[in-house]
Amino acid sequence: MQFIDLKKQYAALQNSINNRIQTVLNHGQYIMGPEVKELEAALCAHTGAEHCITVASGTEALLMSLMALGIQAGDEVITTSFTFVATAEVIALLGARPVFIDEEPDTCNIDVSQLEGKITERTKAIIPVSLYGQCGDMDEVNAIAALHGIPVIEDGAQSFGAMYKGRKSCNLSTLGCTSFFPSKPLGCYGDGGAVFTNDGNLAQALREIRVHGQSARYYHTRVGVGGRMDTLQCAVVLGKLERFEWEIAQRIHIGTRYQELLSNLPQGARTVVVRPDRTSVWAQFTVIVPDREKVLARLNEAGIPTAVHYPRAIHQQPAYTQYAVAGDMPVSESLAQQVLSLPMHADLDHETQDRIVHSLFAALKN
Ligand SMILES: Cc1ncc(COP(=O)(O)O)c(C=O)c1O
Repeated sequence: MQFIDLKKQYAALQNSINNRIQTVLNHGQYIMGPEVKELEAALCAHTGAEHCITVASGTEALLMSLMALGIQAGDEVITTSFTFVATAEVIALLGARPVFIDEEPDTCNIDVSQLEGKITERTKAIIPVSLYGQCGDMDEVNAIAALHGIPVIEDGAQSFGAMYKGRKSCNLSTLGCTSFFPSKPLGCYGDGGAVFTNDGNLAQALREIRVHGQSARYYHTRVGVGGRMDTLQCAVVLGKLERFEWEIAQRIHIGTRYQELLSNLPQGARTVVVRPDRTSVWAQFTVIVPDREKVLARLNEAGIPTAVHYPRAIHQQPAYTQYAVAGDMPVSESLAQQVLSLPMHADLDHETQDRIVHSLFAALKN
């Protein structure tokens, strides 16, 4: 059993992906080839955003977004502590200070009730994370940010394809960032990512930052990075778009089925809640299990692959303890001790899913 079955996906998309790769090998434009623009147009069509800038990874998307906004040393950027480290890493890399807030215990997304209290005159951006594939309360985040004139960057690395009140993740705020890491809902065969925006000036800044701050060939008007996404990786994503809508529908079907089958878990275990006005694309199907280590060991014995996203909140990581006081974010800390992700991918069949569900119930017995 696979945790994420990329081989099955490739088998289904082999012709489309191979043809796309072959086309790149034939034309040989490995950097900024025609597939880059083609993918950006396709992703704009998907999200409804005016501009898409493909970049080298989800991490680069976040870093470049902060750079485009002019974030610098001494600034503060508010984000959540229960996320992949990259969200906070890019803030610290620019010499700014990540200011953490806690999560809602049921959705594991940003607890907006804490946001206003963390805003200071140094706050220059807010990064809500759409964890596990579901957007947080973006309207509420945007409204508070607008009151203070602060831009919002959605970290949609896990939520590309998700809907929020009839709109698409990554097109909900000033900037939206996603990742095409192979295991993501829309992945390539290496590293890749994208930034979305409806602001033409930010889009232009991002295009320049992507190529070392160049506004014309060898003319560097700003400090940038080498942040391009390879043409070959763009070709892979284009190939995968062929059945992406089907994959999203499958993910939602499988995620909903997991939720139904696991609705009465014993021992205080529970699933992540999805709010009725949005969908989750289930980048991870995560359960919250008080006695996690025992359950992990039993699932392992039963041959069920698992993962923990994430075993520590960011402010509990040695490199980030300086940014918060232990105990400040009790929900993040408790989630980090209890979360456990089950196999999840678009090709997961009912029989395999039933086996996983059965094994989880068995693992939760005393
Ligand atoms: C929430 C979140 N943010 C950022 C990233 C970084 O993306 P990448 O691995 O493409 O750099 C990830 C990927 O794991 C993520 O899950």
